[in-house]
Amino acid sequence: MIEIKSEREIQLIKEASHIVALCLETLKSQVKPGITTMELNDICEKIILENGCLPACKGYEGFPSAVCASVNEVVIHGFPSNKRLKNGDVVSIDLVASYKGYHGDSAYTYKVGEVSKDVEKLLEVTEGALYAGISKVREGVHLGDVESAIGEYIKPYGYGILEQYTGHGIGREMHEEPAIFNFGTPGSGPVLKEGMVLCIEPMVCMGTNRVRILKDGWSVSALDKKPTAHFEHTVVVRKDGCDILTKL
Ligand code: MF3
Ligand code: CO
Repeated sequence: MIEIKSEREIQLIKEASHIVALCLETLKSQVKPGITTMELNDICEKIILENGCLPACKGYEGFPSAVCASVNEVVIHGFPSNKRLKNGDVVSIDLVASYKGYHGDSAYTYKVGEVSKDVEKLLEVTEGALYAGISKVREGVHLGDVESAIGEYIKPYGYGILEQYTGHGIGREMHEEPAIFNFGTPGSGPVLKEGMVLCIEPMVCMGTNRVRILKDGWSVSALDKKPTAHFEHTVVVRKDGCDILTKL
């Protein structure tokens, strides 16, 4: 069952989402060669706590830190570390804050210094796919319409789309129904209703979509070690569209 949230619940998700957005916006000026992903984690954790929220990733099924920091071929669920980022890297920061028990979730992939034209394109297309999906969201459409819009946007570029990981509903739980794939069939799946809150999150590889979990038990890494990207927003379904909650 996909929950319909009340306006009060949506307001709480919005509070949490706003702080997540503030974190990701703050990092835009902080990500540069020489900084570590642990430093980025600490910046976010401080902002979350100072604003009366909790870092929901920390301790979630044993995840150790406030944010997921995934560098280059790691697509998602990387651990922040003391290794310094270098020019040409990409780093995806994915974080969830909770406010009075309600969650907001967003991710952004940052360029570290100057990146290659190919990497530039990968980021542009992955973010474009997120917005292609979001543009379909409104009451009355099928979830498959959204999923298909994401997949079809990516397809012409020949990039790999993760198949084992999906977006999701969100609310009291970080992960609620439905699972939202990044490819699909128009007209399939549940029909969206006003008040559903969804996290849409294309996870895209420049090369193969074949991945493995690293020895830390979490990091999802592309087998061919090529760069990857991840963009995510939390949105609420409305009668004639949707509101992006993880935006300032
Ligand atoms: N924010 C991620 C998502 O989009 C989940 C993070 S996994 C965690 O679903 F363990 F770190 F929380
Ligand atoms: Co998510």
